Amino acid sequence: MNIGQDINKAATLLEGGGLVAIPTETVYGLAANALNEDAVSEIFRVKNRPQFDPLIVHIPHFSALERYAALPPENDLRLLTHFWPGPLTYLSPKKSIIPDLVTSGSPLVAIRVPKQPLTLALLQQLDFPLAAPSANPFGYVSPTTAQHVANQLGDQIPYILDGGAAEVGIESTILGRVNNRLVVYRLGGVSLEEIEDISQEKIAEVRRSSSKPDAPGMLSLHYSPHCKLALLDANQSIADLTIVPDVWLGFGEVPQELPSSTPIFWLSASGDVMEAARNVFKVLRQLDEHNIKRAAVRLLPEIGLGRAVNDRLLRAAAR
Ligand code: TXA
Ligand code: MG
Repeated sequence: MNIGQDINKAATLLEGGGLVAIPTETVYGLAANALNEDAVSEIFRVKNRPQFDPLIVHIPHFSALERYAALPPENDLRLLTHFWPGPLTYLSPKKSIIPDLVTSGSPLVAIRVPKQPLTLALLQQLDFPLAAPSANPFGYVSPTTAQHVANQLGDQIPYILDGGAAEVGIESTILGRVNNRLVVYRLGGVSLEEIEDISQEKIAEVRRSSSKPDAPGMLSLHYSPHCKLALLDANQSIADLTIVPDVWLGFGEVPQELPSSTPIFWLSASGDVMEAARNVFKVLRQLDEHNIKRAAVRLLPEIGLGRAVNDRLLRAAAR
């Protein structure tokens, strides 16, 4: 059985240059020693991920940041000490100890402290940080349970550390500075409101997915299930759909015009954006598991994590 909760086994494999899938509060990661170029190149191979798409480096505590990257400006230190451990990733000039392969040649490295007890204990035990992208084949939906990882990559990973279902359910928010302006590179588990509240600074720019990204995770063709997904915005009705959905993804009230025979897969029955974040990747996978061909969903209100869930739905719908 290659799924379990044995931190020592995970540590031994990682120390030997192997891969281990690790739980985080956002999604499961496919981890390797970030300082070992051969180990890191295995991540790219197993995920079938292009080497131009850089990896996030996971550290056990804020105090380890200085070993791998330049210390951020005062205002950002406040953000990091507030949100770490947690779903915030920060871009900072890298130190030479971080291989270029990890950052795809960029002078910046993406760093975060994950908030998951098993993985934090593992990181504390290791004397190196862990490079870890989401543990899915490149382009597919991110995994939020150990079983999701096992279903797709189980035969290629010696061990999956099982920390249960991810509590946040969508990836970390990626934050950095461009010309001293605060820039969000990817919407994620920390909302824009929370960032502005703690930093007392306006976010100057939010990068959305595009076909020519500067963070390759911003490729709009990402998180794609095989099922075709149609989106409605707040003002549209079922009549505006160009397809007849086999399944409706539910968030709060179900549109009255939806045929009552249409099955509903729930993002959140009570209309809670955090619950929807926790469920969105699981529900997208369920569409494929049930071999659903066409589904439809109304975009969430653009508040809190609603924005990040919408970002994932837009990408899932991109063709
Ligand atoms: O929540 C998360 O962030 C999860 C867990 C496992 O930590 N990780 C994750 O990794 O989502 P991944 O590789 O699936 O997405 C990381 C994103 C990619 O879009 C990548 O382009 C961007 O972060 N990224 C990483 N390093 C970067 C860098 N140096 N500069 C710009 N973007 C970077
Ligand atoms: Mg990913």
